Amino acid sequence: MIASYPQARLRRTRATAWSRALHREVLITPADLIWPLFVTEGTGVEQPIASLPGVSRWSVDGMVARAREAVDLGIPCLALFPNTQAERRSDDGREALNPDNLMCRAIRAIRDACGDAIGILTDVALDPYTTHGQDGLVNHAGYVENDATVEVLVGQSLNQAAAGADIIAPSDMMDGRIGAIRDALEGAGHANVQIMSYAAKYASAFYGPFRDAVGSRGLLKGDKKTYQMDPGNAEEALREVELDLAEGADSVMVKPGLPYLDIAVRVKEAFGVPVFAYQVSGEYAMIEAAVAAGAGERDALVLETLLAFKRAGCSGVLTYHAAHAARLLNR
Ligand code: PBG
Repeated sequence: MIASYPQARLRRTRATAWSRALHREVLITPADLIWPLFVTEGTGVEQPIASLPGVSRWSVDGMVARAREAVDLGIPCLALFPNTQAERRSDDGREALNPDNLMCRAIRAIRDACGDAIGILTDVALDPYTTHGQDGLVNHAGYVENDATVEVLVGQSLNQAAAGADIIAPSDMMDGRIGAIRDALEGAGHANVQIMSYAAKYASAFYGPFRDAVGSRGLLKGDKKTYQMDPGNAEEALREVELDLAEGADSVMVKPGLPYLDIAVRVKEAFGVPVFAYQVSGEYAMIEAAVAAGAGERDALVLETLLAFKRAGCSGVLTYHAAHAARLLNR
């Protein structure tokens, strides 16, 4: 006989909807969401992405329409990624430095249309601009050079900040890039431009559909294991976060999301800083595949996974389901 039974009946507070609502420990709201969007050339263009059913690349005018939609839905921030045309890609990814590249044009158009009503987060890494699909500069041995890459990433960050980016989000996993970018932003008068570092980013099998979306999957030779983290490591994630914070990151990201929820918890507990999770393309595709197979119900799967990030201590989530989730939550 358990001494506390039946005095302690945990089912008591679960018996009715009002009581469950009253006792719910965390909530997910549209304000917790960051919506990743893919921009492509042209006008009036929508290109569905086969491996990300329900997600499309949009031309700049379409991006503006999505931004307005996000404002209406109460989504505070967009994350932009470019699908760079093949002829603008190069070994050194120099298109990343072009002040009129697709990314910069999208930033300016959204800023013109929405002012400060929405935050614009921009990805810093060279893979959408390189012919080899790696995030940095590759030497003759096929190795991604750290320090030379950081120099280009600094230029890319300044280019995005000049176009109006609010949050610079380096996803490249080079060492020392946060400090270098922070210094450069301060020097260029962008003291209030934030850095959200992809601090614990793993060499994951869940990025496939994203690489289709930015057009780098077919180009990528080899893998990204010399710079992205080994999925077996957690202590190392804490070291990555510690360094990025010391170098001036305002917030840190854990990526992918659900398979690395333990990392989010540990980072939050160890540092108490704003932690964001990226529910990446392969996770989105997994949910959609489950729905298509009749194995689950989309709305419930989406809201449950997003709530899990909040329970783990995340301040917010990057998710391709952002608009759908916001619509559900606004009902
Ligand atoms: C590129 C980048 C990737 C993602 C975000 N930025 C892919 C990669 O590292 O190969 C993945 C996001 C997703 O899968 O949704 N540096």
